[in-house]
Amino acid sequence: MNKYSVLIVGGGSTYTPGMVLMLLSQLDRFPLRKIKLYDNDPERQEVIARACEIIIHEKAPDIEFLASTNPEEAYTDIDFAMAQIRVGKYAMRELDEKIPLKYDVVGQETCGPGGIAYGMRSIGGILENLDYMEKYSPNAWMLNYSNPAAIVAEATRRLRPNSKIINICDMPIELENHMATILGLKSRKEMDVRYFGLNHFGWWTEIYDKAGNDLMPRLKEHVRKYGYVEDESLYTDPKRDSWHATYQKARDILELDDAYLPNTYLKYYLFQDYVVKHSDKNYTRTNEVMDGREKDVFTACRKVAEDGHCHDDLFDVDNHATFIVDLATGIANNTHERMLLITENKGAIANFDPTAMVEVPCLVGKNGIEPLAMGEIPQFQKGLMEQQVSVEKLVVDAWITGSYHKLWQALTLSKTVPSATVAKQILDELIEANKGYWPELK
Ligand code: NAD
Ligand code: LMR
Repeated sequence: MNKYSVLIVGGGSTYTPGMVLMLLSQLDRFPLRKIKLYDNDPERQEVIARACEIIIHEKAPDIEFLASTNPEEAYTDIDFAMAQIRVGKYAMRELDEKIPLKYDVVGQETCGPGGIAYGMRSIGGILENLDYMEKYSPNAWMLNYSNPAAIVAEATRRLRPNSKIINICDMPIELENHMATILGLKSRKEMDVRYFGLNHFGWWTEIYDKAGNDLMPRLKEHVRKYGYVEDESLYTDPKRDSWHATYQKARDILELDDAYLPNTYLKYYLFQDYVVKHSDKNYTRTNEVMDGREKDVFTACRKVAEDGHCHDDLFDVDNHATFIVDLATGIANNTHERMLLITENKGAIANFDPTAMVEVPCLVGKNGIEPLAMGEIPQFQKGLMEQQVSVEKLVVDAWITGSYHKLWQALTLSKTVPSATVAKQILDELIEANKGYWPELK
């Protein structure tokens, strides 16, 4: 079997050690000859890289390891770039969340004004990395799960139409893992699903087991009571992080439309007032992540470097990220595996903009991905999606043309923002906060 060289872009990410451990757990189906890390923040990457080097040396000494902040060194001789960058890091994410909240508007990483601000930063970062890949390893594929994936995907569709980039999101996979647990299945792969939407904005329309039995009735019954919280005894657990409330809220989304099972991110567009009311304007998800995941991962990495050895309990193997290996092996081995991916619509959703970047089941093969036809969608979902996809397209217009008005229109059109007046106030603060990250707007 071929052995592959993989570059993790955003090597300093909190997800990197878990990703490396996950890659090492999948060598039987995705053999590796090299694991490389690339980041543009040398201090941040250094801490993670020292631990990864020890882990790889202990667990798979035949795999070559290299961490670099030099694009040529990092991008030369790779087969896959797995991109997990966060342009502006947590410091900027915190502002994305807190600035809108000052105006009683949803403050979230990828939804509403926060997602728009993050998108305006991410486009340049992803294009820069895609260009490095094409220069130094023109045959490689970029598997991108950096957020906000919807805006990044629209930008690369427009600005790098021939690039070998596939955008994928872990949220549907995470929710399918919850569904599998709810149903008592061993794996989400025991389910066949139909799904349509945009990234962080979609619905499961049908879910079957491998024998073709309809699993939707049982799932809906559970979600009506507990949302996607798997176990009734966990439902009232006070020690869970803010994701717990998000999983619970799926209950109310289902009540609004009982036909389909929703992606949890819809809560930000359908229950904006509830979300704002339940947000702490001084302590948002970023603070939770910095005090939790970031601290834990960096402390563990420093310990590995000090001890020169990795204890097995220090990191979680990022098992849910095996979907990235599914995608890589789908391409490498031409498997035609069926996966939910972000792709240009081109008629997959029959009554929707053919140029929209949608999230639908696709077949993955050596020459890329092929979307499957999901047919016509109902008026309610279509209306919501048309509004949201227009926001995403206007953000990319604003980034390309440097138009203040396009971005103001994008914020105004977001279902999370109550008026053009509030949109302008938030936009003007975001522009100040993002100096040096966004193109200059006129
Ligand atoms: P993080 O801030 O810990 O890591 C991101 C890294 O990207 C930082 O080290 C930063 O220096 C680097 N970076 C920023 N701009 C860069 C550029 N232009 N070139 C190279 N490196 C750059 O963030 P995180 O919380 O670990 O998330 C990373 C990304 O992964 C985010 O976009 C996040 O939304 C996405 N994500 C991944 C998963 C997953 O399953 N792996 C799940 C959810 C989200
Ligand atoms: C994050 O960092 O918070 C996101 O990547 C997903 C999450 O955990 O909220």
